This record gives sequence, structure tokens and C-alpha cells, in this order.
Amino acid sequence: MSLPIDLSVPAPQPELGIDIDTVKGFLAPDEGARLHQLADLAAQLGPVLEIGSYCGKSTVYLGRAVQEHRGTLYALDHHRGSEEHQVGEGYHDPDLFDVARNRFDSFPAFRDTIERAALDDTVIALVAPSSTVARDWQSQLAMVFIDGGHSMAAAQADFDGWASKVMPGGILAIHDVFPNPADGGRPPFEIYQQALASNRFVDFGLTRSLAVLQRRG
Ligand SMILES: C[S@@+](CC[C@H](N)C(=O)[O-])C[C@H]1O[C@@H](n2cnc3c(N)ncnc32)[C@H](O)[C@@H]1O
Repeated sequence: MSLPIDLSVPAPQPELGIDIDTVKGFLAPDEGARLHQLADLAAQLGPVLEIGSYCGKSTVYLGRAVQEHRGTLYALDHHRGSEEHQVGEGYHDPDLFDVARNRFDSFPAFRDTIERAALDDTVIALVAPSSTVARDWQSQLAMVFIDGGHSMAAAQADFDGWASKVMPGGILAIHDVFPNPADGGRPPFEIYQQALASNRFVDFGLTRSLAVLQRRG
């Protein structure tokens, strides 16, 4: 089965039920629309899982499509932030720092987003490290979206833990894939290359920095 969409054409902007600009995050609108389009296909086959929810921007794009099929979206994030979100780093947001506990915490903002977007019946939050959840995960997934930590160790753990759980015909999407090193960090690109080298996935190219692959049947 090949993906029945033309990825050279931008995906239409979906109705999201929330002003997506009020949700903090790192996804461009065309990438979000592509995620929604892919989740709409995947949810007809089975559950969808994302790694790296942050404040729920990608969760809303995926979740709105999954909800239309009465499906399930697992939203996995330890909500402690990646390296670049910590105090003193380039993408630190003081609004997401829990002063009382002296640590970063995006879970309250995430919950607020899911409630405002009326996605409580669709989104199941998995608040733990990716590798901990992957350890005993048995069921096959119709789509896995990787947007977690961007160190090589984190990206590798996400790939090792989750790529094998994409069902035949299912979709693997990876964010922040930059073929040109001048445009961004390498780990997401490295795992994208590993997926291609494994010969288990067909490449459907990039929407901005969102790589789309389909598991061979
Ligand atoms: C780039 S942000 C995700 C952005 C989000 N997809 C969006 O649309 O805005 C990366 C997220 O991955 C999470 N993360 C990093 N390493 C992780 C790990 N090992 N397990 C679980 N979550 C992790 C961080 O807490 C952070 O919220």
C-alpha cells in the first residue's frame, strides 16, 4: 500500500477547535497540517503515538484527526524538557519553570491545551521517559511521530524503542530533519538515515523539516 496523498502538495490547514497560535511549540503550520493529514490516514488502521508533546501543539494537529476516527493518540513526554529547554539554554521559557519545585514542567500547559481543544476523549498522556515506556510496549502503532530529545543518545533511543513498533503500512514521521548541517542539528537526520538504511521504510520526503516514511508491507 502506498500513501494515497501527494506529498509535493501542501496539506490543507485543518479546523483545530482551538487558536493554535495560543499553544507554545516548535511546529510550523505546514508541518502541523501534514501531521494532521497523515494521522487522518493512520487512525483508520490503529493508534497513533507521538514522542515529545511539550505544550501540545503537535498533539492538537494529530489529535484532531484521530478524534474524527474515534481513535487513540498516545502523547509521550516526561515534561522535564530537552537539553535546550533548561535554564540558561537557548529555548528556555521561564513561563514553563516550576519555581516551587525548581524544575522545568510543561505538563500543566499540556493539560490546559488538551482541555481547551476538547481532546480528553482521544489523547492519553504518557508522562515518562521514552525508553521507559517503550520497554514493555507490545501493541503495533499505525503512526509514530518522533519529536523528543535532540541529543544523539535521545534520538537513537527513540528510534530503537519505537520504529519497530510501526505496523506494516504505518507511518514513521521525524521532526527537525535537516539534510544540510548548516540548517540544524544532526541526530534527527541520523535516525532518518538509519530508517532508510534498514530498508524497512519507504521515503516520502520532507515537509519543511518533517520527514515522512512508510513501513513496508
Ligand atoms: C521539541 S519539544 C516537542 C515539541 C512539540 N512536538 C511541539 O509540537 O511543539 C521536545 C519534547 O521532548 C521531550 N523529551 C525530551 N527527551 C525525552 C525523553 N527521553 N522522553 C520523553 N520526552 C522527552 C521534552 O520534554 C520536550 O517537551
